Amino acid sequence: MKTGRIFRASSTSDALNQCAKECVKPENCNGLVRYTVPEYGEMVFASQCPIFERYKQTVQRQARVEKVLGVLAKHTFRNYDKTKNIKAYEMSRKYVERRAWEKGGWLILYGGYGTGKTHLLSAIIQEALMLGTYATFANLAKISTMGFDEAKGELSRLTEYELLGLDDFGIESSQNWLTPHIFKLFDDLNEQKRGLVMTTNMSLSGLQELLGERISDRITERAIAIELTGESMRKSLRKDNVSWAE
Ligand SMILES: Nc1ncnc2c1ncn2[C@@H]1O[C@H](COP(=O)(O)OP(=O)(O)O)[C@@H](O)[C@H]1O
Ligand SMILES: [Mg+2]
Repeated sequence: MKTGRIFRASSTSDALNQCAKECVKPENCNGLVRYTVPEYGEMVFASQCPIFERYKQTVQRQARVEKVLGVLAKHTFRNYDKTKNIKAYEMSRKYVERRAWEKGGWLILYGGYGTGKTHLLSAIIQEALMLGTYATFANLAKISTMGFDEAKGELSRLTEYELLGLDDFGIESSQNWLTPHIFKLFDDLNEQKRGLVMTTNMSLSGLQELLGERISDRITERAIAIELTGESMRKSLRKDNVSWAE
């Protein structure tokens, strides 16, 4: 709505409709529709514009995506090459479409280096955030560089979310002082029926061996595990990055 414009309307919805017809786009507006109705004379009413509310919500969610994922936010379903690892792509989309986290569903993306695991994980987390899900992303390698108390606090904080994206679970994540706390994280996520999408470069059997029978049982109950295969995409990216040297 143009600043200062006051609609003459028969009702609130009439005022909102009139305003929507000459919408100047939410980014140019303060979101308040001002109007008079005949039976109240010149008294001016104000209503929140639903178009503006939706816009504000989208902007807030986008800011949350930036905060949670940082540079990884550039990895989306749209820029994922589906011809590679189509099954992992489709299952990742399904995980979001069905809001699998609401039922405590887990998805494990495993496979070699550079096959697109973190890319798909980032895409899932950002789509979930844009749907308004209380989701977060964590990298275990990064957490293990923190001091003990901070790392412990960080790990216990991760169970607060409806959906956790856990990147790069590896042997090193479970062979240090954090191990019991990581195991507790899996237990808590399971008990509280939280959603989990995890990437690992370990094989499924290696993962099960490492996590032990109890946690492996939880995973078998809750998780779909998909292997990503193929040559590392980082090689072709490297070609582009160093093409200046040719
Ligand atoms: N199928 C794909 N489509 C588009 N980009 C991809 C694909 N697979 C990998 N990449 C890109 O290759 C790089 C490495 O992928 P990444 O997801 O970090 O691999 P991983 O986590 O499996 O080691 C990233 O820049 C990623 O965007
Ligand atoms: Mg990765």
